[in-house]
Amino acid sequence: MIANESSFSYDCLDWKKESIKKAVEEGIFKENDYVMMYNLDEFRALAKEACDNLKGLQTMAVKCNPVMNLMKEAIKCGLGAEVASFGELKIAERAGFEPSKIIFDSPIKTRRELEYALNIGCVINVDNFEELETIEEIVSTFTQEKKDSLVLGIRINPQVDAGTLTDLSTGVPTSKFGIGIQHKDKIIDAYRRNKWLKGVHIHIGSQGFEIDSISSAAVKVMELTKEINTLLNKQITFFNMGGGLSVNFDTEQSKPTFTDYANHLKSILPELFNGDFLLITEFGRSYWAKCGVVISNIEYTKSSGDRAIAVCHSGANMHIRTVYQFPLWKLRVTIFDKNGIRKHGDERMTDIAGPCCFAADVLVKERMLPPILRGEYVMVHDCGAYMISAYSHYNLRLAPPIYSFDVNTKKIELIKKGETIEEKIQFFS
Ligand SMILES: Cc1ncc(COP(=O)(O)O)c(C=O)c1O
Repeated sequence: MIANESSFSYDCLDWKKESIKKAVEEGIFKENDYVMMYNLDEFRALAKEACDNLKGLQTMAVKCNPVMNLMKEAIKCGLGAEVASFGELKIAERAGFEPSKIIFDSPIKTRRELEYALNIGCVINVDNFEELETIEEIVSTFTQEKKDSLVLGIRINPQVDAGTLTDLSTGVPTSKFGIGIQHKDKIIDAYRRNKWLKGVHIHIGSQGFEIDSISSAAVKVMELTKEINTLLNKQITFFNMGGGLSVNFDTEQSKPTFTDYANHLKSILPELFNGDFLLITEFGRSYWAKCGVVISNIEYTKSSGDRAIAVCHSGANMHIRTVYQFPLWKLRVTIFDKNGIRKHGDERMTDIAGPCCFAADVLVKERMLPPILRGEYVMVHDCGAYMISAYSHYNLRLAPPIYSFDVNTKKIELIKKGETIEEKIQFFS
């Protein structure tokens, strides 16, 4: 699941090779030490594949990519937004997502935030019984018409095993997320009391799960859903499967695909496709990770204890999981010369160091790579999700600009400006 040195492939798709060459020709690196580059056609194709195969309402998890122009692209593709905080809710609204397609999932929604979300008509997934009490108090002041228009669900924790990444497993018995399925009777009472509870939500985690772990957790929640529907006259009509489709970081291939996932669900949970429920999903990484790369100038090279070391601008500032959770999140890299042409051969053991001032800020450790010279480039693959959103201020390194490369016209366009020193100082002022 997570990139593993021995299974690494050193493929590099044509769009990536073309985009770096073009960026060098256009002088983009004269003004920028490093950039992010997206292929939006790839994203559009993935969004279409998800929508065509899964039907229902597909949303993108804003936490993975809260970049205004990228969210606008998601809207054009028909996606809604899953938001995990009030900040994400506000930026999703600003991007133009319709409130009825915004799913508010935070585990710590305050009364003020809930009032706002209920008033604008977001879909809300309740995380715990105390949050439910607050919502019940707010809703009790609403007119019947407003109450009837609400769509809320309960996040049910199916209390299953962790995936390969325990840190990202949210459906384990002791998880902080959602209401454990062990509280079945109280869950049923909550639906009985509140007719506006029309959905169920489940998300067992991100990355590190096979699709059959996701579906078997969903089967558990579906059994409870059917029990509630038998008792309460088919009250539940929204079934939210969350996100969590794992991304292959080992090669350029996307697997599993949304088509694989949809076919699997159709065989295990046909109820999701027969009209009884509106199926909602909230994918993040699987939409965006493979559509974006980071390209950094190699500022310096050196040799230390016989190890070749190249220093680049993208390390713990941008790839925080890769650096702080080494070796769980290894990323593939490709080296390009000063003209943006891919380098091959004469590989030697190399470290690529990040720019931050601590020893562990090493992006790539002990990897066989072609010799790297000062002024060349490293491309880091599969960086389109959870990189810019998790950007770290540590050492006050400036976040890079984001560009898109159009495969047909070969045009590069700026979609987000790089951070300025002034903006950074402002954050700390
Ligand atoms: C509730 C919820 N939905 C969706 C996602 C998106 O997950 P992924 O990016 O793995 O698809 C997350 C990730 O943390 C989440 O917590």
